[in-house]
Amino acid sequence: MSEKLTGMKAGLSNYGDPGFSLFLRKAFIKAMGYSDDALDRPIVGITNTYSGYNGCHRTVPELVEAVKRGVMLAGGLPVEFPVISMHEAFSRPTSMFVRNLMSMDVEEMIRAQPMDAAVLIGGCDKTVPALLMGAASADVPAVLMVTGPMSTGSFRGERLGACTDCRRMWGRYRAGEIDRQEIDAIGNELVPTAGTCAVMGTASTMALTGEALGMMLPGGSAIPAVHADRLRHAEDSGRRAVEIAGGDLTPARIMTAAAFRNALRVLHAVGGSSNALIHLTAVAGRLGHGIDLGEFDEIGRTTPVLVDLKPSGKHYMEDLHRAGGLLPILREIRHLLELECRSVDGRTLGQVIEEGRRGWPQDIVRGIDDPVHSGGAIRVLAGNLAPRGAIIKQSAATPELLEHTGRAVVFESLEDLDRRIDAPDLEVSPEDVLVLKNSGPIGAPGMPESGYIPIPRKLAARGVTDMVRISDARMSGTAFGTIILHVSPEAAAGGPLALVRDGDEIRLSASGGRLELLVDEAELDRRRAAWTPVRHPGSERGYLKLYLQHVGQADEGCDFDFLRWSGASPGG
Ligand code: FES
Repeated sequence: MSEKLTGMKAGLSNYGDPGFSLFLRKAFIKAMGYSDDALDRPIVGITNTYSGYNGCHRTVPELVEAVKRGVMLAGGLPVEFPVISMHEAFSRPTSMFVRNLMSMDVEEMIRAQPMDAAVLIGGCDKTVPALLMGAASADVPAVLMVTGPMSTGSFRGERLGACTDCRRMWGRYRAGEIDRQEIDAIGNELVPTAGTCAVMGTASTMALTGEALGMMLPGGSAIPAVHADRLRHAEDSGRRAVEIAGGDLTPARIMTAAAFRNALRVLHAVGGSSNALIHLTAVAGRLGHGIDLGEFDEIGRTTPVLVDLKPSGKHYMEDLHRAGGLLPILREIRHLLELECRSVDGRTLGQVIEEGRRGWPQDIVRGIDDPVHSGGAIRVLAGNLAPRGAIIKQSAATPELLEHTGRAVVFESLEDLDRRIDAPDLEVSPEDVLVLKNSGPIGAPGMPESGYIPIPRKLAARGVTDMVRISDARMSGTAFGTIILHVSPEAAAGGPLALVRDGDEIRLSASGGRLELLVDEAELDRRRAAWTPVRHPGSERGYLKLYLQHVGQADEGCDFDFLRWSGASPGG
């Protein structure tokens, strides 16, 4: 059996002469000023996700330096390399559209370049999923890190943090409660530091579930972006990457089916973002582990929401850090976790919990007997309107609306919504159900976070703050309301959502897990025969063509079919 090649000798470019390939590689890398001693060390690649467009990643350069310090202290050679970076507000049409592209970049750059381990630095919503997806497929030992949550700001004594308060304050502005000057001043306070959104949005949820999966050194998910602990954690991550370099503690060995069940439990316990379900499904799909919506729902029934953070509760991520981060949450649900799962730090999850710092009295992480919400964060819905499922974040919903029947007010697309939602002549009442079509993975395209359909201005002005809303879109984890998302199959794929018309009755029963369109089958068949799919301009070429041909539905994690586990060993 041939010896496994490591360091600079691994993965040579193909010139038909391995000796020449290595000679050439070393000659070129010496332009970076490395000594032969440095080039003989284990190599730790570090993903540099800094971008001038991405304030959530503003601190990546100093994190890279801290990781490098850790790598060198442990005797390795750190080499940073760029991969795609994207910020939620700077990704057209959506960051979800680009997530799979970033995952391909990560996978192929890890595979193409010599590295015995990788440190993955993510943060903003789609970057952590893309890093995990790519690392899972490449299956080189890897340590996940995040940039960490931003700190909060304030306006006239009121604490503010992106982005639950972005939506709340914008809603007040739309309702005429605050004026233009005030909303502009608030805009200066919502994102007062570097780092990821300050609430339990997708970034926070992916950080916590990434740690729960075992891919991050314990304790790293909630450290604020600007805290010195964040740099120490980065140094530790670099050090640990050298220890696992070239070994068999690869992402596939850490992210087992049991580890995903633990991560899903944590998703519920933290009142996490519904987007994380899609992302975890995509990561799991890279390793041959399906995430069954029924099992996810079942996990939710036995996992109460324990973390009192916005949007479901009242605190912010920096408060969770002060309360001990993920550890006190794991401790509360210890009896529900599969404790033999391994962490990238080498210990089992059981050992991590056992050996972690003792807890102290605080009101951020509730006890299992005193939850914020008893029934899990997210409920899975089934029925003739969503044959392959839909979800509702019940912990962020209005309890009285969770059992509701109402008349549909339909918007055919985002453009239609934009055109008519605030029209004075829109026929709508607070009991109606707002329905948005063609906002799924194919429809928009890129499954935008447009599921948070605004309350029509004329109702908002009357003080209406929530209505039942349904779409095939996603919703920011920072949003709140009685909002049904991820309806699958989506309208653009010919799902029943495409057939809904104004005035149809729709019944939601969150307790029963049902979403029903109360229209008889013969009428639906007539409408189906007349249905035509949307066409996207520019889809004849390029990434849009690739995307539209291969993207999966929400229950498949919206990954490309050709990137999912193929049955060969990961990375093979
Ligand atoms: Fe980057 Fe919210 S916009 S984490």
